[in-house]
Amino acid sequence: MPKKLTVADIRAMKTRAEKISVLTAYDASFARLLAQSGIDMLLVGDSLGNVVLGYDSTVPVTMEEMLHHAKAVRRGAPESLIVGDMPFMSYQVSIPEAIANGGRFMKEAGCDAVKLEGGVEVCDTVRAMTLAGIPVMGHIGLTPQTAGILGGYKVQGKDLESARRQVAAAKTLTEAGAFALVLECVPAGLAKVITDAIAIPTIGIGAGSGCDGQVLVTHDLLGMFDKFIPKFVKSYCQLAPQIKEAVRAYHQEVKAGAYPDPEHSFAISDSLVAELLRED
Ligand code: KIV
Repeated sequence: MPKKLTVADIRAMKTRAEKISVLTAYDASFARLLAQSGIDMLLVGDSLGNVVLGYDSTVPVTMEEMLHHAKAVRRGAPESLIVGDMPFMSYQVSIPEAIANGGRFMKEAGCDAVKLEGGVEVCDTVRAMTLAGIPVMGHIGLTPQTAGILGGYKVQGKDLESARRQVAAAKTLTEAGAFALVLECVPAGLAKVITDAIAIPTIGIGAGSGCDGQVLVTHDLLGMFDKFIPKFVKSYCQLAPQIKEAVRAYHQEVKAGAYPDPEHSFAISDSLVAELLRED
C-alpha cells in the first residue's frame, strides 16, 4: 500500500511536474475501489446532491449530509487524502461559522482538508481557516453553488474582463493560503495562464490539459450518470447499460423461479427435511 499523501505532498507534486489525479467519492465501497486504483486525492464533492441524493443542484446539500458521506468515505479509504466539500451556506455566513464547519469535516469525518467555492470574496475566510489549521482548496471558474449569479452552468473567463477576474482570484486565493485550486469550466488557455502564474497546484475539470491535475465526478467517468453529460467528461466505461442489463436478468430469473438455483442456496439433508415434514 503506498503511503498516505499529505497536502504538502500535493503541493510538491506541482514542483516536480507530476500530474495529480482526483476523483469524487461519496461512499465507502467506491472510496475503497478508488484508493485501491491509486487515485491521489478523493473529493467528497457536494455533487453528492446531484449524483447520489437526487437534488437538482448542490444548493440543498447540508453539512449533516456531507459529514455522513465523508465519514463513509474515510471508513472505505483510511489511507487516502480526503477533501470534504463545504456545502452552500456553511462558510458564507461568517468566518467563525466557516472555521467551525471546516473543523467538523476534520474532527468528525476525518477529512484532511476542505474545499470551498469563490474568488476574492472568500479570501478572508480561506486565510482565517488556514490560520486555524484547516487546509483549504479553492474552487473558481464555474462555481455550481452560485450558478444562478453566474447566469447558469456556463464556461467562465471567456472575455478579457472575466478572464482577468479569474487570474486575480487565483492569485489572491494563493496568497490567502489555499493549498490547491479547482478550475472548473474555464478555457484551456486561461487555465494554463493561471497554472503558470501561481505556486499551488491547479486541479482542472473542464479546464484543459494545462492544469497540474484533473478531477472528475466518478459516476461520469464510469458512465453511470446518464441525465446530463458535460462536454469535458470522458467516460472510461459505460456501466449504466451493464447495470441495467444485470438488473433485468435478475428480475427475469426471479419471475421465472430460476434464481436462486441450488448453487446459490444452502442445503440440508433430505432426511432432515423428511423429519421436519413428519413433525408438521
Ligand atoms: O462537488 C464536486 O464534485 C466538485 C468537483 C466536480 C470539482 O466540486
